[in-house]
Amino acid sequence: MLRDSFGRVATDLRVSLTDKCNLRCTYCMPPEGLDWLPNAQLLTADEIVRLVTIGVERLGITEVRYTGGEPLLRRELPDIVARTVVLAPRPQVSLTTNGIGLARLAGVLVEAGLDRVNVSLDTLDRDTFKRLAHRDRFDDVIAGLSAAHEVGLRPVKVNTVLMRDINDHEAVPLLRYCLEQGYELRFIEQMPLDAQHGWSREGMVTADEILAMLSASFDLTADDLEDRGSAPAERFLVDGGPARVGVIGSVTRPFCGACDRVRLTADGQIRNCLFATEESDLKTPLRAGASDEELAARWIAAVSRKRAGHGIDDPSFLQPSRPMSAIGG
Ligand code: 5AD
Ligand code: SF4
Repeated sequence: MLRDSFGRVATDLRVSLTDKCNLRCTYCMPPEGLDWLPNAQLLTADEIVRLVTIGVERLGITEVRYTGGEPLLRRELPDIVARTVVLAPRPQVSLTTNGIGLARLAGVLVEAGLDRVNVSLDTLDRDTFKRLAHRDRFDDVIAGLSAAHEVGLRPVKVNTVLMRDINDHEAVPLLRYCLEQGYELRFIEQMPLDAQHGWSREGMVTADEILAMLSASFDLTADDLEDRGSAPAERFLVDGGPARVGVIGSVTRPFCGACDRVRLTADGQIRNCLFATEESDLKTPLRAGASDEELAARWIAAVSRKRAGHGIDDPSFLQPSRPMSAIGG
């Protein structure tokens, strides 16, 4: 098992398949993009499947989430999903995507065995989308979302990051839209993970603010039936349910104490936290011919060093040197 010194057990593996992206969301990347990892440094599909297999079959991973950058940019994604769902015991397999290309790929991914999808959507306005993501791809995202719903992926979850004076007036319309479409919306507090270091506490729209905005138009009640467990989202029934909305107070309501996640970067580094300042290299030993036992031992050691929390409130907090797109969401 992947147990840390605080007794938390990592069972949820997030795998970044690429650091590249076809959007430039301001909370993530500068408009000009970043220096992408050279291809030779990216794990191949075979290497990814080898490490995921070790995680599932030896280390107790029960959920695998493929992320990026933008994971749909990896052509081998359906193949990687298909090779993940045949592992024993079969893990839940999900995807976090910006939705571009999902209209074309949703069916293929379901056939490959994909269980669930999270799609990022921060606005319902095409001009705001362009301003926020620096690309005119709003229609592709909307089409991707509806394709995911049509092929039967359930629930289709939508991730929204609100930013002051950009899209913070859209909390209510976004929830209304998701209720109409049958998507489950989750608001995520903006975290200091952007490459340009533009995050500020004042710019962050807090969970309290989001709940106040929503409560003006909807009746929100805590969802008592749900044991929150390690889930970061606090979920609320909307107007008595069954529809729900989630709020992820990553900064103001941290859930580090219940964290069950571990991350594998696109270049084969284990990160025991989004905000970790150290990584453990699995790629080098993997390419040097290490055995499954050796790789598993390195992975166990990496998780055992996990810190208690992200420490964003500590005066000594340092933003991780790699941005979200290189870490995996
Ligand atoms: N803060 C909060 N959420 C972020 N995401 C990307 N960068 C940040 C950030 N700085 C979200 C994206 C996507 C998921 C991977 O994480 O919107 O839904
Ligand atoms: Fe791309 Fe996701 Fe970063 Fe937006 S948040 S630029 S979609 S990796």
